[in-house]
Amino acid sequence: SHPIIFDTDPGIDDAQAIAIALRHPELELLGLTTTYGNVDVETATHNALLLSELAGRADVPVAQGAAAPLVKARHPPPAHIHGINGLGDIELPTVKGKADPRSAPQFIVDTLNARPGEVTLVAVGPVGNLAAALQLDPTITRKVKQVVIMGGSIREGGNVTPVAEANMFNDPDAAARVLTAGWPLTLVGLDVTHRCVLTGAHMARIAAGQGALGKVLAGSYGFYRDFYRQFLGIDGCCPHDSCALAWLLRPELFTTDRGHLSVATSGDAEGQTIFAPEDRGFIETRWSRNPLVEVCLGVDGEAVSDWIADTL
Ligand code: BDR
Ligand code: CA
Repeated sequence: SHPIIFDTDPGIDDAQAIAIALRHPELELLGLTTTYGNVDVETATHNALLLSELAGRADVPVAQGAAAPLVKARHPPPAHIHGINGLGDIELPTVKGKADPRSAPQFIVDTLNARPGEVTLVAVGPVGNLAAALQLDPTITRKVKQVVIMGGSIREGGNVTPVAEANMFNDPDAAARVLTAGWPLTLVGLDVTHRCVLTGAHMARIAAGQGALGKVLAGSYGFYRDFYRQFLGIDGCCPHDSCALAWLLRPELFTTDRGHLSVATSGDAEGQTIFAPEDRGFIETRWSRNPLVEVCLGVDGEAVSDWIADTL
């Protein structure tokens, strides 16, 4: 089984992924760490606590993290995509539990130090908590087993600007540090998440099997699907964040490439991820010596979507 920390900004597709993280028998969820992004960080923490409780997993620590980007001003949360409450503005049960007293970066540092070489860090929001953890303790690059990040886009183009994906755009300075920190890292970006569609039929199956948690997943799904229909003309929604877990548990459904990655931190391309495959013979640039990482470029989208629905 994979011990993981799941860093998240729930968020409707985050909620789906959190449900997988809480329940999948091959995952040992050591904690949820929260960040602003789809919602403000207090709402993210509230939703993480709520989802854990609804899954009967109030034992999972939830540590609150970044309220704003590392350097730049915060973009307003995308209420038209995830709702003001992050879960499609459906009515939500009351939360009983409380967040861990530690900050998210401290929780990450403590957990990686407690089990060196064992823990995978999965991040599916803006990556400020990972950047802050690196600042607190740079040795975590050697202690983490691997880092899986939902974010970025290599050939697909962006989803918030023509070139930038939301998680990168929401904190490009943090992303630039985290993606070049020299730890074993895989980027699961729009190149693969846009090939996956969670349909209404999938969701009907999910809701039936999940009790109170299923109600929240199905209710919020409707709001998210309306966004996809209206803006992208898709019948269904992209389960971006669950794809990071699919990559971890079913890597054979993906193809990856190795190379050097950089993130544009200013100008028109702010938040764009730029990838140079290794041995491609590009001229030396400022960043072509950045550490090698893996990026997902191909996926069996139908198999991954089915896997997500089956898992949930
Ligand atoms: C990412 O942005 C957020 O809105 C989603 O939760 C996902 O993490 C997709 O670009
Ligand atoms: Ca997210």
